[in-house]
Amino acid sequence: MRSQQEMLREQLKVGVPGAEQEPQLGLSPGSRVPACASKVECMGRTGPIGPNVRAELQFAASQMETGQEFELQLTQAAHGGECIGRHEGKVVFVPFGIPGERVRVRLVEQRRSYARAALLEVLEPSPHRVQPPCPYYGQCGGCHWQHVSYQHQLDIKLAVVADQFRRLARLEEVPLEGIVPADEPWAYRNHIQLHPAGAMAEGVVQLGFVALDGQRVLPVTECLLAHPLVWELHQALELSFGALERVSLRAGINTGEQLVLLESSTEEQPLICLDMEASLCQLTPSGRLYTLVGRSHLHELLNGRRYRISAPSFFQVNTHQAEKLLEVVTSFADIGAGKCVLDLFAGVGTFSLAFAERGARVTAVELSPWAAQDARANLAAYGNATVLEADATEALRSLPGTFEAVVVDPPRAGCGEELCGLLAALRPARLVYVSCDPATLARDTAYLLRSGLALERLLALDMFPQTAHVEVVALFCAGAGAS
Ligand SMILES: C[S@@+](CC[C@H](N)C(=O)[O-])C[C@H]1O[C@@H](n2cnc3c(N)ncnc32)[C@H](O)[C@@H]1O
Repeated sequence: MRSQQEMLREQLKVGVPGAEQEPQLGLSPGSRVPACASKVECMGRTGPIGPNVRAELQFAASQMETGQEFELQLTQAAHGGECIGRHEGKVVFVPFGIPGERVRVRLVEQRRSYARAALLEVLEPSPHRVQPPCPYYGQCGGCHWQHVSYQHQLDIKLAVVADQFRRLARLEEVPLEGIVPADEPWAYRNHIQLHPAGAMAEGVVQLGFVALDGQRVLPVTECLLAHPLVWELHQALELSFGALERVSLRAGINTGEQLVLLESSTEEQPLICLDMEASLCQLTPSGRLYTLVGRSHLHELLNGRRYRISAPSFFQVNTHQAEKLLEVVTSFADIGAGKCVLDLFAGVGTFSLAFAERGARVTAVELSPWAAQDARANLAAYGNATVLEADATEALRSLPGTFEAVVVDPPRAGCGEELCGLLAALRPARLVYVSCDPATLARDTAYLLRSGLALERLLALDMFPQTAHVEVVALFCAGAGAS
């Protein structure tokens, strides 16, 4: 008989680490790992670095100078979407390469322990190199891997996740089961955020994405990651409103509902032309949400379950992959009727609704008042579900009772040491940790292992094709052997 694990893998078409995977992967220049064993300063942020690499760097007396051009062998992909090579013993980060390629680069930044270079020429291209279809690729900060075939993007992501766990969780054997690929690697986003790009053109605000350098806004007239329902909003929107900070365009891919949220820098009400049937809201600096047209929320369906999502609430940006994520989380949590489950960082109740439907006794904790209200509305039909609008750590300090399963899905910064300690102290039979940053998940894994939990399963999901982002779900257990 096939195990539950095998059936889930088959259902989700999980890709496993392939033969073409890079043999060895390295440190993470752009990752934000607040607390880890050792760090290097990277682009004004911090990133982890393993002990072997550190020892090597101490002996790297490099004579390199900014502007210098040289050849480099790219050996591995880094967590933030760049590749790594070594020149005169020093680690050099290069964007838009592929591990295995020989490239010519120009040094653009020198630090004591690493350098950054711009790609000038690919001397020996990877067989996985493809033509990036987006005209903004290389300037826009949104995508990192468009120049890599989709299958190889999956291999790179798997290798990066495994590397983070080896380095930050100090695991020799990483129980990574594979990666769930996206059926549609383009036009998948149900939500994009744009910013005003410079001066108005003929009285109309030009919108764009944050550029690769993070310093400016790049005006765009198309985005290949945006779902057509989302891009339709962009085409229909005419804004002549100076006090604009950010514009969110959202759609329910399975419901067809569309919503625009304007975040303004003043309380002033804008003049807007939106030539289509969609909701239009404004969030002002005082935190007030105004409904200018339609409703203050939209709906999305995940595996037939209907969710209300308020304009400022978080929701998974890739609807089809979110449906698979939901399958993975419910399978890992394995919670039955009458059992107690705690859903921390619950959002609009994405996972809680599936647990409540199974008859579990659900406690959902969510900090955002908008999302907590949505979760209450989404769970209203279930007397077995309670939503607390609270900080996850605060809530955990005072929550009474025991939980068979706990699900945590924190923002990119992860749970951190204190919350990991509190989670381990709960001794849930199953702790499901959903993460959009493998570096902070790997760091938190070290805390959880130290507190006596055991890492049972680890599965990646590609929620963000063409980008360096990857979702990872980990299952920890507090069985007898784990303490
Ligand atoms: C990555 S989202 C996950 C939401 C939900 N699990 C889902 O899949 O849709 C993280 C959520 O945590 C919430 N959040 C952020 N900081 C929090 C905190 N300190 N305590 C509780 N919730 C928090 C955010 O508002 C957001 O809804």
